[in-house]
Parts: sequence; C-alpha cells; structure tokens
Amino acid sequence: MKVIAFSGSPREGGNTELLLKEVIRGVEDSGESVQIFDLNKMRIQPCQDCGGCDETGECILNDDMDEISKSIRTADRFVLASPVFFFALSAQAKTMIDRCQCFWCEKYVLKRPVQAGKYGRKGLLLLVGGMKKEIGIQCSESCASAFFRTISVPEHRILSFLGINNKGEILQHPTALNEAYEEGRKLVEKATAPDS
Ligand SMILES: Cc1cc2nc3c(=O)[nH]c(=O)nc-3n(C[C@H](O)[C@H](O)[C@H](O)COP(=O)(O)O)c2cc1C
Repeated sequence: MKVIAFSGSPREGGNTELLLKEVIRGVEDSGESVQIFDLNKMRIQPCQDCGGCDETGECILNDDMDEISKSIRTADRFVLASPVFFFALSAQAKTMIDRCQCFWCEKYVLKRPVQAGKYGRKGLLLLVGGMKKEIGIQCSESCASAFFRTISVPEHRILSFLGINNKGEILQHPTALNEAYEEGRKLVEKATAPDS
C-alpha cells in the first residue's frame, strides 16, 4: 500500500507536524511506510490558470509539483495536514492544491479519473487551529474535500483540534496524539473479507 502525506505547516516542530508524526507512527506500526512532502520546503509555483492542462490533463509548469503529481496518481492513502490560517488551509497546502487543476481537467473534462488500485483510495485531513472558531475548520474542510474529490479520493476522515496556538501546545492535549496515532492505524486498515 502506498501512503503519502502532505505537511502544510511552515512551523518546524509545530502542532501540525507533531500530530502528523503520530499518524505516521500509526501507519508504520501497521507495517506500511509513508512518503512525506514537506510543502514549505518545496518549490511549487501557484497555478497560473493558463489553460495549459485543459486538453491534456497535464500541467505545463515544471517544478517540485511534478514529483507530487506522480505520487498522487499511484498512492492508495493520502494525508493532508495543515494549520488553520485566516480561517482556511495554509498557503503551502493551498498552493499545492491549486496545482491539482490538471487532475480536475483530467477527471471532469477529459473524463479520465485516476483509477484506484486494489486497496481503493482513502484520505485523512488533519487540522489545527489556534482559535476556538469552527469556521476555520469548516472552510478548510470545504477546500480539502474539493481536493480529495478532484484527485479521486472518494472518502476521507477528519481529525481537527481548535484552541491550540503555541508551538508544541498539542503535546499538552489529553487525547490528541493518541487520536492521531489511531487515525494512522485506521487509515491503512485493510477491509476484512466477510465471513463465509
Ligand atoms: C498567519 C496565521 C494565521 C492564523 N489564522 C488562524 C485562524 O484564522 N484561525 C485559527 O483558529 N488559528 C489561526 N492561526 C493560529 C494557528 O492555526 C495555530 O497557531 C496552529 O497551532 C499553528 O499550527 P502549527 O504549529 O502546526 O504551525 C493563525 C496563525 C498564523 C501564523
């Protein structure tokens, strides 16, 4: 099973990263490995809305998004982790998502959605916000849902925490790290065959 994770926070050792590490630990304890894309360290230009992908489903920009696009095609499990910034996903996450417009063309215009492998395609959305305002989760979730749908990931779970502001504050949360670990395990659980 191929598992990829997008780390969308610029803050090293921050809350998003700490939660993502626990998800990854859960995945790894289940025997799978994770390819991590640290978006803040990658060179990804914003979508130029140039129409270059309209007829081919392929982006004409060449940068680190090439590697991400290749992995999106072949992965079975997807983790999108982001802090809430201005009631939305971080710019790092959003820039990567906008560059998936070529997947949108491929799926909806050219009618060639990415095909699932034998494990199906499932996602996990991980969010952390400093304020206690649900709107930040709702707006981020709307964007993330469109992303998952576009890259042909039909179902995803959400794990979100609000009121977590300072660097590393998530470590004081009574259940967050454990919940993240369990989500990692759940993400790569293989469906058991029904009893015969
Ligand atoms: C530019 C910026 C904008 C933010 N906007 C919001 C916001 O709209 N809502 C919110 O709940 N928290 C907001 N926060 C707080 C972060 O979500 C919070 O500090 C979070 O724990 C950061 O996660 P990290 O440690 O993984 O970077 C903002 C922080 C920054 C730096």
